[in-house]
Amino acid sequence: MRVLITGGAGFIGSHLAQAHLEKGNEVYVIDDLSTGSFENIKHLTEDKDYGSRLFFTQDTILNHEKMVELIGICDRVYHLAAAVGVRYILEHPLESIRTNIQGTEKILELCNIFKKRVLITSSSEVYGKHLHAPLVETDNIIYGPSSKFRWSYAASKLMDEFMGLSYYRTHGLEVVIARLFNTVGPGQSGAYGMVVPRLVGQALTGESLTIYGTGKQTRTFTYVKDVVDALMGLMESEKAMGEVFNIGGTEEISIEDLAKKIVAMTGSKSKIDYIPYEVAFEKDFEDMERRVPGIEKIKECISFEPKTDLDGILKNVIAYISGNAASSSG
Ligand SMILES: NC(=O)c1ccc[n+]([C@@H]2O[C@H](COP(=O)([O-])OP(=O)(O)OC[C@H]3O[C@@H](n4cnc5c(N)ncnc54)[C@H](O)[C@@H]3O)[C@@H](O)[C@H]2O)c1
Repeated sequence: MRVLITGGAGFIGSHLAQAHLEKGNEVYVIDDLSTGSFENIKHLTEDKDYGSRLFFTQDTILNHEKMVELIGICDRVYHLAAAVGVRYILEHPLESIRTNIQGTEKILELCNIFKKRVLITSSSEVYGKHLHAPLVETDNIIYGPSSKFRWSYAASKLMDEFMGLSYYRTHGLEVVIARLFNTVGPGQSGAYGMVVPRLVGQALTGESLTIYGTGKQTRTFTYVKDVVDALMGLMESEKAMGEVFNIGGTEEISIEDLAKKIVAMTGSKSKIDYIPYEVAFEKDFEDMERRVPGIEKIKECISFEPKTDLDGILKNVIAYISGNAASSSG
């Protein structure tokens, strides 16, 4: 089987590429390296077996001819390429909307022409500012006003979902939507506001761990390999087509407790600093207080259950970041 992964040099995409190579598939990756990095897939390209079945193109998904070529030859399309991360969205508002809306539209249009099954990665951000838990796929959504730009990411991902579901309803295109909650693991960059790699990096270098807001906001974290299993399971499930699924872990923790746990697990002497949102991001910035997924729907469909708990996730991330720091200084 030939698999196309847009955003395949990104954090989740590179793990997905590896999993498909392990299954013996041919993997095509398109990535413009805006937030991803060739380093994420370099080891795969250098592997004697995998390297001969991995084809990387550095380009944007907005390149029509290139996408025609790639979607034309592949059997499955995983669409992960997107402008990601709160900080990145705030710094690149227009480009982010273009990538997330026009890019997805192009992919759906071409998948429909070539009749290729496609999985679209959406985000827990689409739920907006709920306080209740767990969040289930049929919940209403609550956003702030359009003057608060962080909501543009949520709105663009929601539009992607509507587009995908419309292709399913109108043309019978095989589309499945995965709403990912905070996903963590080796290869994730802390540069765009992702909390775990940022806090682990600070703990390991002895800098203060910076918490935005009160630190009372809670999250759950899912290990990237569990997410990859879920994505692959949904892609091959007939029952999943035309449906939206949460993918996430269920262990809720406040960001303050997460920071304390990271300090303890790394044996760091770092302090914890609290930075107001308006200093970290922009005036009137809004965050989500809680974000816990209900995962009954995906459990029922493909028997998904996250396997790695938070301690296991943090252990792996700490080992990865300290390994990288050691190899870059050695
Ligand atoms: N990591 C998470 O916690 C999380 C949570 C919710 C949703 N998601 C979604 O999962 C997907 C993958 O996210 P990730 O965490 O791996 O982030 P990432 O930034 O590592 O991956 C996104 C990739 O897309 C590429 N890209 C961006 N614009 C592109 C364009 N125009 N053309 C080609 N490539 C482009 C980037 O270079 C990057 O490699 C995204 O769609 C994201 O919205 C991730």
